[in-house]
Amino acid sequence: MRTLIRGGLLVSAEGASPTDVLVEEERVAALAASGSQLAESWVAGSDRVVDATAMYVIPGGIDAHTHMDMPFGGTTSSDTFETGTRAAAFGGTTMIVDFAIQKKGESLQSGLDEWMAKADGTCAIDYSFHAILSDVSETALKEMDVLVSEGVTSFKLFMAYPGVFYSTDRDILQAMDKASGNGALVMMHAENGIAIDAIVASALARGETDPVFHGRTRPAELEGEAVHRAIRLAQVTRAPVYIVHLSSTPALDAVVEARDRGQNVFAETCPQYLFLSEEDMDRPGFEGAKFVCTPPLRPREHQAALWRGLRTDDLSVVATDHCPFCYKEQKELGIGDFTKIPNGLPGVETRMDLIYQGVVSGEISLSRWVEVTSTNPAKMFGLYPRKGVVTPGADADIVIYDPTARQTISAATHHMAVDYSCYEGMDVTGRVEAVFSRGRQIVENGTYTGEAGHGSYVRRGLSRHLA
Ligand code: URP
Ligand code: ZN
Ligand code: ZN
Repeated sequence: MRTLIRGGLLVSAEGASPTDVLVEEERVAALAASGSQLAESWVAGSDRVVDATAMYVIPGGIDAHTHMDMPFGGTTSSDTFETGTRAAAFGGTTMIVDFAIQKKGESLQSGLDEWMAKADGTCAIDYSFHAILSDVSETALKEMDVLVSEGVTSFKLFMAYPGVFYSTDRDILQAMDKASGNGALVMMHAENGIAIDAIVASALARGETDPVFHGRTRPAELEGEAVHRAIRLAQVTRAPVYIVHLSSTPALDAVVEARDRGQNVFAETCPQYLFLSEEDMDRPGFEGAKFVCTPPLRPREHQAALWRGLRTDDLSVVATDHCPFCYKEQKELGIGDFTKIPNGLPGVETRMDLIYQGVVSGEISLSRWVEVTSTNPAKMFGLYPRKGVVTPGADADIVIYDPTARQTISAATHHMAVDYSCYEGMDVTGRVEAVFSRGRQIVENGTYTGEAGHGSYVRRGLSRHLA
């Protein structure tokens, strides 16, 4: 099967030029300047010619931080791998990296097996896993080597959630030491969970139980402190560190300081920290619960610093931390006690469109949009150049994007299995027109043409960002 994508503007992390893309079976076979003799010669031999005139042609989005079907706080995130990856496809994302959770007292491998079974045969797009280390035992440390050899090359630890996922500084140091030896990347949820728990207890004792107190009890300074500590622990062990879901100026300041010293420190932010704010958690009644995630949404003033961090590469990835819970019955578990609200927001479907608004408003360039949503996550998590770039030999994960179409984000039209949207009613410019996953068209003009199980598990290499 030969497909020719013709007449579009091919956008990469390096630039943009009118280019025709020849796809053979699952891979990109060749590129040629649109209108060139070579490109024209492909028309006759193609089984299908897709007209991309006036469209952008970009590598499919890679969302390096999702939580499908994840147990949390007595409930489970509402997207399965089937519904969540289909929604991702609608939004122009062709690969996710989810998190397999090690249960306390159990092995990393059993966590990975459990998550593999959840995803197996159900995904619309390709997928892979990071491992969450929630019990840093001698055995788990040894297992890190095994997982790296199996293509699970990144490990998340938590400085938050004491008693659940929390790791001590000793645990973190040991895991980083192991990673510095085997080339893995440690991903850090950086918030000082011990201090936060004390602040939360005082708030509850004062009767402060509304959703907004979720944010007020997790100050940005305690994210900054934890990021700084994680960076210094990484420095001592000579391991790289990747800060997940960075939300605030103090946290970013710590990353900038370390990168300016030349340390291998990387960070991701998420659309919710760029577009939503603490005010959303303070909406009337219980509606603020829709916006409860961790780290929490910050006062609006933090957003400009995060956009600047994206421009300067101090923030090199935008992922979603997609972790949806329905408002009815799931978020409502926290009525009368904000600590019982399951933490997390839906977002896997809206990431590409939302970050494109940064191009429209001039916050980032067109190439930077592609870089932070696709190319950098591919490099960071050992997927490049198979993913994250449209080049001969790469998987034909390709999105045709209409840069001028208008749409309104709404739960009534989204495909995520969740009963609300954090961006309800927001008008955006740009829309996914077509999506190819390994050469197969899975979205065509707003219709899903893929199938559950088309997505394959991808074994990853080591991070390329460190080379
Ligand atoms: O609120 C969040 N972020 N939920 C998902 C778990 C995590 O810490 O990433
Ligand atoms: Zn986290
Ligand atoms: Zn997360």
